[in-house]
Amino acid sequence: MPTLSPHREGSWALVTGASSGIGRAHARILAQRGFDIIAVGRDHDRLAETVAELKQAHGVDATALRIDLAEPDAAEQLIASIEGVEVGVFIATAGKGSPGLFTAVALADYLECVNVKVRNNLVLLHHFAGAMRVRRAGAILVVSSTGGLQGVPALSNNSATEAYLLAMSEALHHELAPFGVRVTGLLPGPTRTPGMLAMVAEEDVPRGTMTPDEVAKEGIAALEAGRRTHIAGRANRTLLRALPRTARIGLFRRMVAGSFARDASMPAA
Ligand SMILES: NC(=O)c1ccc[n+]([C@@H]2O[C@H](COP(=O)([O-])OP(=O)(O)OC[C@H]3O[C@@H](n4cnc5c(N)ncnc54)[C@H](OP(=O)(O)O)[C@@H]3O)[C@@H](O)[C@H]2O)c1
Repeated sequence: MPTLSPHREGSWALVTGASSGIGRAHARILAQRGFDIIAVGRDHDRLAETVAELKQAHGVDATALRIDLAEPDAAEQLIASIEGVEVGVFIATAGKGSPGLFTAVALADYLECVNVKVRNNLVLLHHFAGAMRVRRAGAILVVSSTGGLQGVPALSNNSATEAYLLAMSEALHHELAPFGVRVTGLLPGPTRTPGMLAMVAEEDVPRGTMTPDEVAKEGIAALEAGRRTHIAGRANRTLLRALPRTARIGLFRRMVAGSFARDASMPAA
C-alpha cells in the first residue's frame, strides 16, 4: 500500500483532538508527511501552540478550529466552517474519559461524551467518507480504544462509545476499500497523555503505558498498510488476543480499579 501523500489523498488533514495527546501526535506525523493541518479542539492556547509548532517544524499550513464537539450541532458547524476545503485525511480523536460508577457520574457528562464520540463523529464520517468516495481518494483513522473490545466497569459509557467507533470503522473499512479510500480503527491501550494524567495520579499510571508519539506512529502505519483495525503496542496485542471476553472484562476492571481506586466513587478490584 502506498504511504499517505497530500498529492494523492488531498492536501488537508483534519484532526479532531489535535490540541493534546494522541491527536496532536497524529497531527505532527501528518505534517511531517507534508499535509496541511486543520487542528480541532477547544483550548485556545493549546491549539495556537500546536498550529505554531506544525508550521515552524514542518513548513506546512496549519489552522486552528475552536469547536466544542460536545455541542449537539458541532459537526455541522465544523463542516460549514471549512466548506470548499478538500480534506484528504480525517483523524477522529477528540474525546475524554468519565470514570466512575455508572449511577454516580452525571448523566450530562455521558450525553456530552455521546455527542463527541458518537453523534458528531457519525456526522463527520458521513460527510467526509462521502466526499472521499466520490473523489476515490482519502484516508480515515478512527481512534477507538482497547476499552471498546468489551464493557469496562467504571468506564461504562466510554467503553460503549469506543465499541460504536470500532464497529463503525470496521464496516467503513470494507465499504470504502473498493473506492480506494482507506479506513482504520485504532485501539490504543493506556497512553500517557494530558487526558490520562488528569484522571490518574502519576504513581497509578499502569506499567507498559505508551507515549502518544508511539501510538500515533502505529496509527499512521496501520492506516498506510490498509489495516481494518490495529491495537497499539505489541504487549497489548499479545495480551488482548490471548484473553477471552470475560477475562478481558476482569483485566480492565482490575486496571481501572488500580488506577482510580483513590477516588471513593470507584470500585475496588
Ligand atoms: N490516553 C489513553 O490512555 C487512551 C486510551 C485509549 C483511547 N484513548 C482515546 O484517545 C482520544 C484522545 O485522548 P488523549 O488521551 O489524547 O486525551 P487528551 O490529551 O485529553 O486529548 C483529548 C483531545 O480531545 C479534545 N476534546 C475533548 N473533548 C472535546 C470537545 N468536547 N470538543 C472538542 N475537542 C475535544 C481535546 O481538546 P481541548 O482540550 O482543546 O478541548 C484534546 O485535543 C480520546 O478519544 C480517548 O478516549 C485514550
